Parts: sequence; structure tokens; C-alpha cells
Amino acid sequence: MIYREMGKVISNEEIAEGIYKTVFISPNISSSSMPGQFVNILPSLDWRNVMRRPMSIASQGNDEISIIYKSVGEGTRIMANWAIGEKVDLIGPLGNYWEGYKSSFPIIVGGGVGIAPILNLHDVLLEKKIDHCLIMGARHSGEHFFPHEPQNKVFLSTDDGSLGIKGNVVDILKSIYPIGKHSQNTKIFSCGPPMMMDEVRNYSNENKLDCDLALETIMACGFGICQGCTVERKAETNGVHSYRNRFALACLDGPIFNAEEIISCV
Ligand SMILES: Cc1cc2nc3c(=O)[nH]c(=O)nc-3n(C[C@H](O)[C@H](O)[C@H](O)COP(=O)(O)OP(=O)(O)OC[C@H]3O[C@@H](n4cnc5c(N)ncnc54)[C@H](O)[C@@H]3O)c2cc1C
Ligand code: FES
Repeated sequence: MIYREMGKVISNEEIAEGIYKTVFISPNISSSSMPGQFVNILPSLDWRNVMRRPMSIASQGNDEISIIYKSVGEGTRIMANWAIGEKVDLIGPLGNYWEGYKSSFPIIVGGGVGIAPILNLHDVLLEKKIDHCLIMGARHSGEHFFPHEPQNKVFLSTDDGSLGIKGNVVDILKSIYPIGKHSQNTKIFSCGPPMMMDEVRNYSNENKLDCDLALETIMACGFGICQGCTVERKAETNGVHSYRNRFALACLDGPIFNAEEIISCV
């Protein structure tokens, strides 16, 4: 069930450089959402700002949901300035959700603005006591808000080496899991910038690992009306397919796709 609900802001703070976390009271969306799903948010009720912004749900439960986002443009700047008590127009939960983690050893990989659905999955795995490895990448230490704890299988990377391992998330994957050193049931779950996810996809292919990727394709409506979020699927072998089979919609069929299913994350 998808709800349109006025979420009440109960906290809104900068948790790292330019990265904000907002917690809403939103009982319907909270009780019906799953890790990996998103909400489509109207940042302001001003008639000049009619476009919603999709944001992954970073946590749910106890009538609350949270989002974690980077302030990159007009909408997210409005969001960063929401006052406590403000009511925000939310539609959700939207899209599909992470699956297949109960029967696998999950390696969960987030980067940039793609950390929210990965942290949500991390929390579920901790709660269910499922052994897993968390890898998060950023450009520098200021963008991280989590400790680097290799002893707990939590690895951070930074492009400039200011925190954790110098390099990107795939450099971490290669250093801790040399080719062929994965357990048989390893599955990768990833969300981040398109170039990062393409690299994660290549790594999974090279290592013959199952891999699900949450795409952050630019969206408008969020539920299949505008056709603005198409993702090209690999052509079927017999060449016979409908337009709909060939071009998935990130909002309805995704945002999570298997790495084998799509041509590119870009
Ligand atoms: C399913 C989904 C989940 C998402 N979850 C998160 C999240 O948890 N946290 C988060 O910070 N962001 C997330 N995003 C991206 C977020 O929606 C955009 O950053 C946001 O819409 C930008 O709005 P804006 O008005 O601030 O920027 P705009 O003024 O619209 O654009 C500013 C800049 O951001 C770029 N941009 C706009 N939309 C996107 C997008 N979808 N992806 C990448 N770049 C974009 C524009 O090209 C432009 O360069 C998600 C996107 C999708 C589709
Ligand atoms: S965002 Fe409108 S169809 Fe997907």
C-alpha cells in the first residue's frame, strides 16, 4: 500500500559535511516500508516548487522514518532548512526492496548519497544477527559519519586517504577479498554514484558474484506515470520483447535491479 502522508519533522541535523539526516513521524509509511524503498518528497508547499524529490528510507519503525541526504540543489537546500514541527508532504513507500540477504553472506557497499538504503540494510542485518561486511566510500573524512572498524567488518574508504583505506570501495573489496576468496553464498548489495556502481558490477562479474544495485535514476512522479526514469534491460536472447520488457522503470520495477539484468548504471 502506498500512502500520501504529512510527515512531521522531529529532528533535522547536519551529520557530516553537507549531509543531513531528517527524522519524521510518519506512521503509515513507517509501518509498511522495507529496507531499499524510498519516499517521494515535496520539499515545500510553495506553488513554485512542484517537483518531488525521491529519497531512500534510511530507517523505519516506531511510527518514524528517517532520510539521509546530501544538499546538492534547490530541493535539498529547502530540506536542510526544515524546522522542527514542520509538516512535509511524503508519498511512499515506493519501489522494491532488498531481498536474498537471509540466505547469503551479504557484502553491502554504499557511496556518496547512496548510503541511506545501505545503512537501512545494515541495521536489519545487525538486528537479525546476519554476519555481513559493510563498506562505505566518500571523498574525504568530513563526509563520513561512521567509525572505520575492520574488526567488526565495517570498512571506510576515502579518495584522499584521510580516513579508513585510501581509494574507493572497489579497492577495499579487492584488498579484503582477493579474487576467488569469497564464500560461495556471497551476495553484493550496493547503492551509490552510477560510476561507482558500474565498478561494483564489474567486480561482481569478474568474481561471479550475485549482485543487486539500487539505482538513483533521476525521477519525477515516482510511481510509473511520467516514464521519466527508464532503465535499459539487457536484450533477450531471441530478440523478441515488448518496450516495457526492454525498458524498465526505476520507480516501479526498481530502484533495485540485479546487475545481470541491466546494461549500465549510468
Ligand atoms: C530512488 C532514489 C533514491 C534516492 N535516495 C537518495 C538519498 O537517500 N539521499 C540523497 O542524498 N539523494 C538521494 N537520491 C538523489 C536525490 O533524489 C537528488 O539528489 C535530489 O532529487 C536532488 O534534488 P535537488 O533539488 O536538491 O537538486 P536539483 O537542483 O534538482 O539538482 C542539483 C544537482 O543534483 C543532480 N541530481 C538531481 N537528481 C539527481 C538524482 N536522482 N541522482 C543524482 N543526481 C541528481 C542534478 O543533475 C544536479 O546536478 C535518490 C534518488 C532516487 C531516484
Ligand atoms: S518517475 Fe515517473 S515513471 Fe518513474
